[in-house]
Amino acid sequence: MALRQSKKKRPRREDKMDKNLWPLEEGVFDRTSLISLTKFMKKGVFKSIDYCIAEGKEANVYRGTTAEGGFVAIKMYRLRSPSFVHMQQYMEGDRRFANTRNGVDLIHAWTQKEYKNLSIMHDLGCRVPDPIAFKANILAMEFLGVEGVPYSQLSDIGSEDPNGDYDLLLSDLNKMREGGLVHADVSEYNILMTDKGPYLIDCGQAVLTTHPRAEEFYKRDLANLWKYFKKYKEFDRPEPNTD
Ligand SMILES: Nc1ncnc2c1ncn2[C@@H]1O[C@H](COP(=O)(O)OP(=O)(O)OP(=O)(O)O)[C@@H](O)[C@H]1O
Ligand SMILES: [Mg+2]
Repeated sequence: MALRQSKKKRPRREDKMDKNLWPLEEGVFDRTSLISLTKFMKKGVFKSIDYCIAEGKEANVYRGTTAEGGFVAIKMYRLRSPSFVHMQQYMEGDRRFANTRNGVDLIHAWTQKEYKNLSIMHDLGCRVPDPIAFKANILAMEFLGVEGVPYSQLSDIGSEDPNGDYDLLLSDLNKMREGGLVHADVSEYNILMTDKGPYLIDCGQAVLTTHPRAEEFYKRDLANLWKYFKKYKEFDRPEPNTD
């Protein structure tokens, strides 16, 4: 199968290596995160941080290199102006984070939450990045890419097999739900198109099925997925029942 790699993105992302290296004003580094990065390096999780793959609303994602020459994705949550209210909605009633306070404490808990969510999803056999380690506002996970170039989002590259890709994603969402989790932020921006099919990313907001709004989030995920794939004329899957 041809690798679904966005040609137009490749040079732009590599160009960022010089421009965007470590700008402290991005708000993802503080004393604790710098100490945590050093600890990761001492433990061999990665030996260097190469460049910023993406600057998101809540986090920056960097590519790291290991001593063996492999790659890791390093997601660093923003410590300033984060969406506390938004985050709290997805943590309320979650027994895993009952004692979480606000501010940096919330960001650290959120980082741990994404790590835990990814671990459960990965163990359930869902296509998500394999989590490697977390500390403070930093999550290290499997790098989804080829030859060091990250795979593209579904929104950028589209789908060559809408029915097949939809089926895989739907099956993963159902697997998660049976395993006790709802992703809660499914969109074409949170799906990377890999040579092993579509992978769901950005799993920090995923909630336990015991969350009071879990069913609502699950239905919203299904509706978002179906609405995206519906634009392909060969797409023939029935609309999910989200009443
Ligand atoms: N494991 C990974 N391997 C390769 N690239 C990744 C990985 N995780 C994230 N990325 C890249 O970083 C981007 C942002 O990741 P993610 O959606 O997790 O962060 P975010 O800050 O929540 O973003 P946003 O606020 O835009 O939703 C992704 O679209 C993808 O391009
Ligand atoms: Mg995202």
